[in-house]
Amino acid sequence: MYDRGKIIIGLIIGLGLFLFPFYYNKGEAKKAPEAVLTDKAKAAKQCIEPKEFMRTDHMKMLDVWREDVVREANRYYKSGDNKSYFMSLQVTCMECHSNKSKFCDQCHNYLGVAPYCWDCHIEPKENK
Ligand code: HEC
Ligand code: HEC
Ligand code: HEC
Repeated sequence: MYDRGKIIIGLIIGLGLFLFPFYYNKGEAKKAPEAVLTDKAKAAKQCIEPKEFMRTDHMKMLDVWREDVVREANRYYKSGDNKSYFMSLQVTCMECHSNKSKFCDQCHNYLGVAPYCWDCHIEPKENK
């Protein structure tokens, strides 16, 4: 005779073992690293534009800045909230995000992006 109780318990344990790798990694496997802010960035509270925009569009913004500075000789950017920023990768972005390895690099490494900007532009000095 079959022992229905044991079979069901066996099936439940088997299913649990089968699914273990899935729920064990839940919320961890795909989580991107948190961007670490410097004290200076924390004090500023916000980026040049809202965080969501910066997250998706900072590379386009840098591209526009470069064009504006190099081609148009225009040095100032007016943000959505009407603040004026000196357009410079080194002097503006990297002033607030001087922890490049924990901010820019950490996210880029995770995503497999390697901007070539630092061939010419000087990276901020970090105390590692
Ligand atoms: C005045 C200081 C300051 C300047 C200048 C600045 N940032 Fe930011 N940045 C911040 C702060 C503060 C945050 C976090 C904003 C938040 O949490 O709402 C941030 C967020 C970001 C994010 C999103 C990070 C995330 O959590 O996803 C990116 C990308 C970014 N900045 C890139 C840049 C770039 C590129 C420049 C130059 C074009 C720049 N920032 C200039 C202060 C600054
Ligand atoms: C929250 C994650 C995140 C952070 C933080 C971040 N980036 Fe990026 N960055 C990206 C993504 C995503 C791309 C786009 C990759 C693509 O489109 O192929 C990118 C692309 C770029 C590019 C264009 C590279 C290329 O080869 O096209 C530049 C330049 C750049 N980031 C500069 C910076 C700088 C400078 C900082 C720090 C101030 C920074 N990023 C912080 C996610 C991030
Ligand atoms: C071959 C060398 C070189 C590379 C690589 C390079 N740049 Fe530049 N960049 C320059 C020079 C030279 C200037 C002009 C400096 C000036 O007039 O202040 C400049 C100016 C800029 C400016 C405006 C002025 C400033 O102080 O920041 C931005 C923004 C900029 N570059 C962004 C980038 C980004 C983003 C990348 C990578 C995607 C990059 N550059 C890669 C040489 C380079």
